[in-house]
Amino acid sequence: MTTSEPLVLGIESSCDETGVGIVRGHTLLADALASSVDEHARFGGVVPEVASRAHLQALVPTLHRALDEAGVTLADIDAIAVTAGPGLAGALLVGVAGAKGLALATEKPIYGVNHLAAHVAVDTLEHGPLPEPAIALLVSGGHSSLLRVDDLTRGVTPLGATIDDAAGEAFDKVARLLGMPFPGGPPIDRAARDGDPLSITFPRGLTGPKDLVEHRFDFSFSGLKTAVARWVEARERSGEPVPVNDVAASFQDAVCDVLTRKAIDACRSQGIETLVIGGGVAANSRLKAMAAERAAQYGITVRVPRPKLCTDNGAMVAALGSHLVAAGTAPSKLDFAADSAMPLTLVGV
Ligand code: KG4
Ligand code: ZN
Repeated sequence: MTTSEPLVLGIESSCDETGVGIVRGHTLLADALASSVDEHARFGGVVPEVASRAHLQALVPTLHRALDEAGVTLADIDAIAVTAGPGLAGALLVGVAGAKGLALATEKPIYGVNHLAAHVAVDTLEHGPLPEPAIALLVSGGHSSLLRVDDLTRGVTPLGATIDDAAGEAFDKVARLLGMPFPGGPPIDRAARDGDPLSITFPRGLTGPKDLVEHRFDFSFSGLKTAVARWVEARERSGEPVPVNDVAASFQDAVCDVLTRKAIDACRSQGIETLVIGGGVAANSRLKAMAAERAAQYGITVRVPRPKLCTDNGAMVAALGSHLVAAGTAPSKLDFAADSAMPLTLVGV
């Protein structure tokens, strides 16, 4: 096995995407994905049992697709990485059990890794090594956090997180009340392009003077979601049509304003010049544009992976595994457990 350019297979199954990715060093060779999102759409959110069963059905075919795409066999792989947490317990179990089976059968080392750290690591596949220290803004359906990354292979330092809904959750809930499909981020992003972001002033959670003392790097999106609901209800009661595009644009701007303001404040307060944004909400076009515009004023470089790498996938897990192998990190013991509440401070188990 070469330590500089390890060939690493990554397996992701923490939510509704079954992902198998293969990387060599920082080079992406395959990124195969199967999603059960359509099966959850009518429930307006991911149903854990449905997700687990879908992972069971999809894991082996997705693995074969990834190997074919990369033009390698299991025997060529140097190490296997798998999401150990956080995520849905039953869904994680499928990936972890599958990865352990592969590791046993092929006698390869296995790394149980943190899904959130993987959302940061994936950016290196597109933009090369991450300058450290960096600030990471992680925004997904389940998490919204600001982190300081000094060495991704050793851990991250949480600076702040949401105290209620995650950013993606707010997109999903607001989309639902506007009659848009699940997941709500992409349809809101599209509708907002034809709307006026200044038409409605929605609240910016935890940005008041007192909040900036106690919750400087924390987020809150639940009040924003309620404000959108009240605004839409008032419109409906008055018999006037709901300007969906304007609501979408104004809501999206409120989320992006708070996320980018706090992320740049974190960079400036720590004297850090690199901001990396990861997680499904990083696929948002307005977030990317606003972050780039605001960061440029302070000489901060913003790195956002392309949308397919922002949402859950196997390549991100392989990317983090590749970092760990290259750093000489010891593999996980084969009896490690999936941890649905795995803390951000743990990069691997
Ligand atoms: O990272 P991810 O795929 O799964 C989790 O780990 O949660 O993130 C999914 C979330 C969903 O809430 C989805 O609505 C949101 O990412 N999302 C977006 C966009 N694409 C996906 N939010 C805003 N704008 C988008 N373009
Ligand atoms: Zn995720």
